[in-house]
Amino acid sequence: MELLSDVSFWKLFLTFIVILIIYFTVKFIIRPYLLTRHYEKQGMLTGRFIPILGYALYTIVGPGNARGDAYYYLKQLRKKNPEARLMVFPYMDGAQIFLGDTSLYQEFTVNQTKYYTKEPGFAGPFMDMIGQGLIFSEFEKWKRQRKLVSQAFHFEFIQKNLSVVTDTTKDIISQFPFKGNGPITIRAIDEFQKITGDVVCKIFFGQQVSNKLLFGKPLSQVLADVNIGIINYSMSLPNLIFGPKFQKMGLRKKDRELMKKVKLFVATLKEMIEGEKEAIANGMGKSREKSLARLLLEETDENGSKLSGEEVLHQFTTFFLAGMDTTGHLAGITTYYLCKYPQHKEAIEKEMDQFIKSEEDLTIENLSKLELMGNFIKEALRCNSPAVGMIPRVAAVDHMLGPYKIRKGTYINTNFYFLSWADERNFKDANEFKPERWAGAEAPDKKLGNPFIFTPFSAGARNCIGQHLAVIEAKIIMWSMIKKFKMSLPPNFELRMMQRFLLEPEDDIPLIIEPRNA
Ligand code: HEM
Repeated sequence: MELLSDVSFWKLFLTFIVILIIYFTVKFIIRPYLLTRHYEKQGMLTGRFIPILGYALYTIVGPGNARGDAYYYLKQLRKKNPEARLMVFPYMDGAQIFLGDTSLYQEFTVNQTKYYTKEPGFAGPFMDMIGQGLIFSEFEKWKRQRKLVSQAFHFEFIQKNLSVVTDTTKDIISQFPFKGNGPITIRAIDEFQKITGDVVCKIFFGQQVSNKLLFGKPLSQVLADVNIGIINYSMSLPNLIFGPKFQKMGLRKKDRELMKKVKLFVATLKEMIEGEKEAIANGMGKSREKSLARLLLEETDENGSKLSGEEVLHQFTTFFLAGMDTTGHLAGITTYYLCKYPQHKEAIEKEMDQFIKSEEDLTIENLSKLELMGNFIKEALRCNSPAVGMIPRVAAVDHMLGPYKIRKGTYINTNFYFLSWADERNFKDANEFKPERWAGAEAPDKKLGNPFIFTPFSAGARNCIGQHLAVIEAKIIMWSMIKKFKMSLPPNFELRMMQRFLLEPEDDIPLIIEPRNA
């Protein structure tokens, strides 16, 4: 009898294992294979069949990263297949399509709010803080939010807040740890992110936010720490296997500590937003220069509907996460290129001296006259933008993209290198840093009459709402660094770009600086 029950236990167990193996084989191998074939038959380019990770094996964890150019493989694919309009790879339990044709990309951006939803993917653990903000809201909710946020965060608002950018840049630069007049080495991106993080906090909550400390640190620093903690988890194996729930369960000490920090931080933000609401109720909103939080709490749409306190909180963390890291990286990478190409730096400096003689001349109008600097930033973005694509989308319905039949559930991805940036037909000597290519009517997008070949801030209705602020910040940081310091890189420094949360240098930019008046 006992022997029998032993046998039936093992039978049951083996049957369970076999069912599990069949289930995972169908889900992660057979289904993605059939789906990839479905797209291949429609003429899409495909690479080797690598289940689950697909193309990511070549970039995030593969030879791309080992070469110090995360997208080397995609760039090569583009070179060898200039005519490919779409490319497909298996990915997790489905297929992932990459756009490789600007007319399809244009169609995609036009229909993005109709046919696709964003796939949080690695950003999953951030959803409690940003899920209701502009980046991840969808359909009607996004439309309403985009309208209300655009009403408040318009160009004149940024113009009014220009002094926040100049003062913050000056302040952080004045804290560089010089001892005497000799050179020091700074981690450029870390330093510039202090500026870009502070700017978002001050624009959102007003100057008084500088006095607000949590755990003895300024709010922007706490959010930056929380950011790093969540990003580290996002890129880890537990997130890939179990998702954000594992971190929330707090099984590990570091997860418990981070969750405690997040909780306190969110409670502080809630308190601050309540404070803003009270200020509005007491009529203080009208008399003082308004913060973005106050404007967002006041704005109404045509139905008289407003953003809730929770939505405003999520806009803040969204702006911080979308604007701090990216813009700090952009400023960092421009200083790298300034050191690498001193002839361009000299030309930019001459142009600066023509239009901006002192800090008082740092106006939006004067900054927009700095064409060489603008072209330099554009080329820095083309060669090494922190965001080389859009957040992956998932098709919400079966639909047509150009002549292609796209099935519901397919991931649609953009990688700007594969799309157009590494394409010699658009950018001659695509691998070379040549800011002069953007001069006047000869600029590739103008010459080809195709603005979709270069959209570092994306295109269409869901383009980057912070793009003007980002470029203004990059220009002011660049102006200040050139004016104040001699800059150089360690003699053997080699730029190695990795795809982590953003496309970023392996270990910051070690920038050697020395006061110019020394
Ligand atoms: C170099 C700096 C930046 C780059 C390269 C960049 C790039 C992008 C890109 C490519 C998108 C489209 C994402 C997608 O649809 O999948 C985007 C969206 C967005 N960006 Fe930026 N961004 C930068 C700076 C900023 C700044 C400074 C802010 C705000 C302070 C910001 C706020 C946003 C928001 C809220 C969205 C979502 C817009 C929507 O879906 O309606 N970004 N950005």
